[in-house]
Amino acid sequence: MTTADRTPSAARSFPAGFVWGTATASYQIEGAVAEDGRLPSIWDTFARTPGKVSRGDTGDVADDHYHRVAADVALMRSLGVGAYRFSVAWPRVAPDGRTLNRAGLDFYDGLVDTLLGAGIDPLVTLYHWDLPQTLEDAGGWRNRDSAALFADYSTAVVARVGDRVRSWVTLNEPFCSSYLGHLDGRHAPGLTDPDATLAAIHHLLLAHGLGADAIRAAAPSAPQPLTVGIVLNLAHVRGEQDTGPDADAARPLAERLPTIADEALRAAVRSADGLANRVFTEPLFDGRYPADIVADLGGEAAFPFVQPGDLPQIARPLDFLGVNYYSPARVRPATPGELASRHPIRGLGTPTAPRPPLTAMGWEQDPTAFTELLLRVAREHPGLPLYISENGSAWDDAVDADGAVHDPQRVAYLRAHLGAVHDAIEAGADVRGYFAWSLMDNFEWAEGYSKRFGIVRVDYDTQQRTVKDSGRFYAAVAAANGLPA
Ligand code: FCB
Repeated sequence: MTTADRTPSAARSFPAGFVWGTATASYQIEGAVAEDGRLPSIWDTFARTPGKVSRGDTGDVADDHYHRVAADVALMRSLGVGAYRFSVAWPRVAPDGRTLNRAGLDFYDGLVDTLLGAGIDPLVTLYHWDLPQTLEDAGGWRNRDSAALFADYSTAVVARVGDRVRSWVTLNEPFCSSYLGHLDGRHAPGLTDPDATLAAIHHLLLAHGLGADAIRAAAPSAPQPLTVGIVLNLAHVRGEQDTGPDADAARPLAERLPTIADEALRAAVRSADGLANRVFTEPLFDGRYPADIVADLGGEAAFPFVQPGDLPQIARPLDFLGVNYYSPARVRPATPGELASRHPIRGLGTPTAPRPPLTAMGWEQDPTAFTELLLRVAREHPGLPLYISENGSAWDDAVDADGAVHDPQRVAYLRAHLGAVHDAIEAGADVRGYFAWSLMDNFEWAEGYSKRFGIVRVDYDTQQRTVKDSGRFYAAVAAANGLPA
């Protein structure tokens, strides 16, 4: 080892102009579910269904953000972050999915102004899972009409705040909306129907494509540059035994697959990657469903809902891709018994247990997989700006006697994963910003309030916010535009 090797590394700086933000979503923080004309979404219904959400929690009050916008924006400002990713609740803006509700638009109009007044740039997500229940009653994402209605709703939001908002996301994680909501039943609307899942994937993608056009058409006076993207939770699929790092990470998966010697594992990884990633990315970027997945599912007949013109509509050029990353996916080859007894949409791989160290969600921590994933995306989509639209971890935080929240595990996760982003940038990935999930503890879907992702603690009895050590750490990173050595 040379002297140079022993010198502590300097702070790792991010590129000039790198965006530091935090993220939330409407149903997870707003509360006020019956105020100012809002009607139920699928998540209100699902949360009220016994056994669906831990401890029977609902988003009725959540972080009461609807009534605390000024204080919450002031909190962001105190952290020094320059951007905020939030989502608009469709059931506020068009409570029955179609009819506009002025009061709903007023709320987001005020939020945007408050953010801009605090020097915080909004990144607005139009759909983060709270579909109006009225639309679900008409078939939800199984119904093609929902895609056109999403475009109408997008037009209304953009017409109201598009003169001040530059950055738009159509959908958050269509993987979760489709598979978790329609195949696993773990998320709203709670279905377990393979055909519904495929239809939901297609209609969500169509909604994205129609929505992207609607945003551009409705925002002629938008601050420039107007950017439109989608947020995907891409999976970095590892074989069961594969502990990485993968020296070939920067190569497209199609080139890396043949290097997996075991044929069954190779097929399992290919299939898991196709179902989790390429079923979204190929329509979005190449205007086609992946041929291998179409074949695995029994051919074109499995996609009866695809109409002429849909795929070009879905493949409208994107200005950026938002990547949400939490942990890698692990598969082993499915057994012949498993394959015989389940629908092909479950794929040729069976998920295996995550490897420690785990977060409080039971999710595997693997920052190397994050770097590899980003490098793969960068390699497969050259010239496409990337944002980390979510990344973070849940821990069982405790409040200290002095009222402080010391969360060294969240700090360590943040440090390691920001380091992983830095590594990807150094290796050529065009990552423009990072949004910590989450600004504050909130309603964590099926886990309710039992899992805390915030860099700010929320006391659900008093609604008091307390910046955790991780919040201070993140503020320091944002201020320095880099990681401390
Ligand atoms: C993502 C969701 C987000 C949050 C995190 C932990 O899948 O987009 O709302 O719940 O997981």
